[in-house]
Amino acid sequence: MATQEPVASDTKEKDVISTEKSPSKIDYEEILKTEEKISSADEKDPELDGIPDIVKEIVSMEDDPTLPTLTFRYFLLSFIFVGLGAFVSQLSWFRTTTAPYSLFFVQICTHWAGRWLHDVLPAKEINIFGFKFNLNPGPFSIKEHVLITLSASSGATSNLREIIVSVKDLFYHEQMHPLGAIALMISTIWTGYSFAALARNFLIYDPDLIWPSALMQTTLYRTLRSDGVFDASSRKQMKIFWFVLAGVFVWEFFPEYIFPFTSSLAVLCWIAPYNDTVAFVGSGLGGMGVLNFTLDWSNITSSIMLYPWWTQVTIFAAFVLNVWILVPMSYFGNLWGGRDFPIMSNKLFTGEGSKYPFQKLITSDLKFNETAYAEYGPVYMGSYNLWTIFFGYCTFISAFMYIGLFAGPKLLKTFKRVYKREKRAEPDKLNKLMAAYPEVPTW
Ligand SMILES: *[C@@H]1O[C@H](CO)[C@@H](O)[C@H](O)[C@H]1NC(C)=O
Repeated sequence: MATQEPVASDTKEKDVISTEKSPSKIDYEEILKTEEKISSADEKDPELDGIPDIVKEIVSMEDDPTLPTLTFRYFLLSFIFVGLGAFVSQLSWFRTTTAPYSLFFVQICTHWAGRWLHDVLPAKEINIFGFKFNLNPGPFSIKEHVLITLSASSGATSNLREIIVSVKDLFYHEQMHPLGAIALMISTIWTGYSFAALARNFLIYDPDLIWPSALMQTTLYRTLRSDGVFDASSRKQMKIFWFVLAGVFVWEFFPEYIFPFTSSLAVLCWIAPYNDTVAFVGSGLGGMGVLNFTLDWSNITSSIMLYPWWTQVTIFAAFVLNVWILVPMSYFGNLWGGRDFPIMSNKLFTGEGSKYPFQKLITSDLKFNETAYAEYGPVYMGSYNLWTIFFGYCTFISAFMYIGLFAGPKLLKTFKRVYKREKRAEPDKLNKLMAAYPEVPTW
């Protein structure tokens, strides 16, 4: 948060002025007109038929395939924001409390940064080894903006396979050769992208799938008027945004540094401070958190506002089942030694409750040491952790089950089409817009 303000406020004044004298005035009127056209043609236009209402409201049905995309500005800004994000995410990975690298942060910063680059970069043709490009090919386009955010969303994360490299090093004191480690991480990424490429056919072209968090971002693009217009209502929305940001920033010092107890106000523990059962029911740290309130925004997180209503309900129901029913059951019913081990700990224990010396189970030539295992006995875990693992496996099975039951026929149809290499035939507007671009080759 702290880094976000200076970058943006430096460029803010300048930007408002520069948009006023830019030729975007004309675009604005045009956009207003087309928006009227779209809203009045809502019911009549058969191309909009299959598209859910919320998408029709939020997504612009206009597209200009000639807008600049892979420009110098794109490469510069994505290099900076992907690098920063990858660093922060990887660092977070090793911490108990994480600082998520928000895509909205990238989206807002690059909006101002991109416009600033448009103002300061010379419009010069550059030639590197016969590869020609212009440093500043016109106003910062919405497509550059979207591409930078997309790059950040795929690149500014910690690498999944890194866990193997670091666990080997940290826990088993065995270091991989850097080349092998890099090859392992890259091959994982490529595997992931291959699956994404296959899944595109099933997930991208179907207008019924609305991608809620992408819609949120689309709203922000339109508020920021990345399509070239920054009107009075956008200015008002941005003003509110800066006010809220300043408010949240100042407030965060209270729960974080000045009064840490405000991050977990355990009402039940105040009433009966010395009762173990009450402490378990009322504590938000290692307990059920009944009547536990927080004034710390980072405990609430803003992501809850991005979820559709039905997702929020499902998450809350899962929380009630898990934390208010299953965890107390294992604690009070002493399931899996629920009372012998710290219930929410993520550590491994021996039967006596001490830390499990799992390194001793491995002989010097990296084999399983059966004598040591017989000596230390089986491994125990906190019961919350066990429930988490149980539901982790359930998630996979239920996801496949859900897909099979609710999307099976549709998937089969798409699969047949892809297999026979037929062209897609969805007649809706969004597919028409996407058809202007060449398909990603399957290889
Ligand atoms: C296996 O564990 C036992 C007991 O901890 C130890 O005495 C023995 O040296 C270990 N064996 C090897 C091959 O490391």
